[in-house]
Amino acid sequence: MLANHRLLFPVFLLILVVCVGGIALSTRAGSERGGTVSAPDPKLADGLAAWDQVYSVLTSPRCINCHTATNYPQQGDDRHRHFANVIRGPEGKGVPALNCVGCHQAANADSTGVPGGPNWHLAPLSMRWQDTNDRPLSSGAVCRAVTDRSRNENMDGHALLKHHEEAALVLWAWNPGRRPDGTTRTLPPLTHAEFVNATRRWVDAGTPCPRLK
Ligand code: HEC
Ligand code: HEC
Repeated sequence: MLANHRLLFPVFLLILVVCVGGIALSTRAGSERGGTVSAPDPKLADGLAAWDQVYSVLTSPRCINCHTATNYPQQGDDRHRHFANVIRGPEGKGVPALNCVGCHQAANADSTGVPGGPNWHLAPLSMRWQDTNDRPLSSGAVCRAVTDRSRNENMDGHALLKHHEEAALVLWAWNPGRRPDGTTRTLPPLTHAEFVNATRRWVDAGTPCPRLK
């Protein structure tokens, strides 16, 4: 009996250490930022929640149809391959016989159903947000791609925020015009204002990326 009592305290200590260690580890796992995180960081949690909202827009059809991993753009909410065998071409602008701006003008052409915006072309492969089987990349993978300055034309958080606020092809997604059958294209899951606000919260938190997904 006496031996058991003597054992109790070290065992208790061991359990305590394991528990505290577990909590510390799970806090760290939520983020990819370096350093020691010993208590939950509300700003980081808010930044990660804001990123989830940003991700929902990036991977919606109006955006991801241009951020493909293949040699073609996609169309429609089912993200099917662009008709007429349109291909990416060397600069994402198509090939001479079938270049994007041959059909896509600077604004939507609602009478024919061709969407339009300034310098309409595909995002470079370094900015792809899907795999070669047309499946959207995970939240963490898109986040890492978007924040990797060797892949995004050297944009830091503030440049990304400005892009989301002002870039013409981003704004097009909230004014996507009519399809050839006359129906209107669907919009991203957030309003533009909500999207910019979520991007700002994510940037203010230091553009954290989810680690485990
Ligand atoms: C018509 C094609 C097209 C559409 C639609 C489009 N993009 Fe892009 N996107 C591009 C191109 C091309 C670039 C490369 C930079 C440039 O030329 O502006 C780019 C670059 C970006 C970048 C910076 C690069 C990166 O990956 O870090 C972000 C962020 C981005 N787009 C977000 C969006 C969002 C958000 C939407 C939808 C609301 C969207 N794009 C819709 C073509 C498109
Ligand atoms: C022969 C004319 C033509 C050419 C060339 C062409 N497009 Fe299109 N594109 C269209 C038409 C028409 C639609 C509308 C189809 C629909 O909504 O059913 C369309 C739709 C799209 C959409 C879908 C928008 C959405 O979210 O549903 C994207 C993205 C797109 N084109 C990108 C490109 C890119 C990038 C190029 C050059 C590499 C290109 N297109 C070349 C005629 C063309």
